[in-house]
Amino acid sequence: MQTTQVNLNDGYIKVCKTEEIPENSCKIFFLDDKEIVVFKNNGNFFAFDNNCPHQNSPVLSQGFIEDDYLVCPNHLFMFNLETGKMKTTGLKLRKHSVLLEDGSIFVKLNSDT
Ligand code: FES
Repeated sequence: MQTTQVNLNDGYIKVCKTEEIPENSCKIFFLDDKEIVVFKNNGNFFAFDNNCPHQNSPVLSQGFIEDDYLVCPNHLFMFNLETGKMKTTGLKLRKHSVLLEDGSIFVKLNSDT
């Protein structure tokens, strides 16, 4: 696990180098006392609170990716990586903005998504 390294003026925080997260895997970071998980799928990076909204369980980092959906390990509910929305109900992951620059991943925490 890593902690904040760089704060940029626009609120993005450097979390790691892109090569530190292999395809179809993830890494956890602590930003502003929140547990954030960053996944890589098809070369793209997605950042969420590590909590599954179904039972507010901090387990998403133990989930897996299937057909562009993040699957929660507890009850196998599926969440779209692009939108954070659950496939079958209105539940939604708290998604954060990701920026790639100079081979590094930057995350900006969003409070309303
Ligand atoms: S806690 Fe994630 S699907 Fe139930």
